[in-house]
Amino acid sequence: MAARKRRRMARRGYILLLVLACIALAFALILTLRRMHKRQDAEMVDTVSGIETIPTVGSDQPIEDPSDPISTEDPATTTTYLESVAPATTGRMSASGSMRCDTQHIFVRVANSKEVPVRVSAGVSMDDISFDVDDPDVAFVTEDGEVIGLQRGNCHVMIRYKEETLAVPVTVRELHVENGCTYVDDILVANKSYSLPPEYDPGLLPETEQAFERLCGDAAYEGLEIFSHSDYRSYDFQQKVYGSMVSGYSKEYADTVSARPGYSEHQTGYTIDCNTPDNSFAETDEGKWLAENCWRYGFIIRYPLGKEAITGYDYESWHIRWVGKDAAKEMYDLGLTLEEYLDIDSYYHDDVEETSPADEDDAEDADEATQPLTAPDWDDVEE
Ligand code: DAL
Ligand code: ZN
Repeated sequence: MAARKRRRMARRGYILLLVLACIALAFALILTLRRMHKRQDAEMVDTVSGIETIPTVGSDQPIEDPSDPISTEDPATTTTYLESVAPATTGRMSASGSMRCDTQHIFVRVANSKEVPVRVSAGVSMDDISFDVDDPDVAFVTEDGEVIGLQRGNCHVMIRYKEETLAVPVTVRELHVENGCTYVDDILVANKSYSLPPEYDPGLLPETEQAFERLCGDAAYEGLEIFSHSDYRSYDFQQKVYGSMVSGYSKEYADTVSARPGYSEHQTGYTIDCNTPDNSFAETDEGKWLAENCWRYGFIIRYPLGKEAITGYDYESWHIRWVGKDAAKEMYDLGLTLEEYLDIDSYYHDDVEETSPADEDDAEDADEATQPLTAPDWDDVEE
């Protein structure tokens, strides 16, 4: 009887111990989980504590927003490298939201200049913003934020407000003429401002042909049929094409859709018109795929919608130009035309010279702006 009682007591003791052990284990588990959770939170904060914490501002968001005062938080020194900005984002605000640069990358030619498009929050004066460059051999920046290209290369323009710095990449390009052909860095240019000599007659170049074959092959793999409607055109052939546009319509209209002989990209050997030379092509699966993917093969849509005033031509969803993969990717990512990317313009200089005497001064100014300039007088620039 007593032995049974002892056994029962012992059993109860074991059960009690087991319950206590379970409770201890549960506590330990809860503590571990809480600690893990805290670490995860900390990691999340870490990953967003750098550039990712900087608020992205859409292009439609007004900067002069009175509800956007300068932060009173600790203005820890922040350098924001705008090249880390995700594609399709235009501009970034500094960490405290006090200033913004409406470009992700500045392209300027040697001896040309470009204003840094900075805007500030309400309550911040532009006088409080200062500019400098991190490689003074490549570019110079005035105190008003005018970047002047000094020699071919890359640097950053640093835009400073108090302890904050935005660093915008700057590429300085060089234009040179070889055998009557104009190159900006290594890219051959043919537009309304820069012509090709009649004797320049390379035919469709192998790099264009090979890249296009790859493009068509990959499109076919996705069930899409992309093909060449036309590609290389000699000077003489372009003369016929342009002439028929002038006689069929008018010179004014022809100049919006067709290049004059010597000014056509088709003469470069780097250009192909795909499928149907009509903007209904843009609405087809092939047209959409081409617009989204041609950069992967080194091509750009040369005359995009909305950039007519920059390229000098109406939108041509079918006309692609080979520029090489790196340049094509950069232009696609930044949404730039070749003119913007190379810092060149596109207009018939002869037409400007033919205008009335009253327009001559303007024309001269415009001409000067597009000439491969000689080095400016630096004493003047620094004033
Ligand atoms: N259609 C383009 C502008 C050309 O004629 O080269
Ligand atoms: Zn074309």
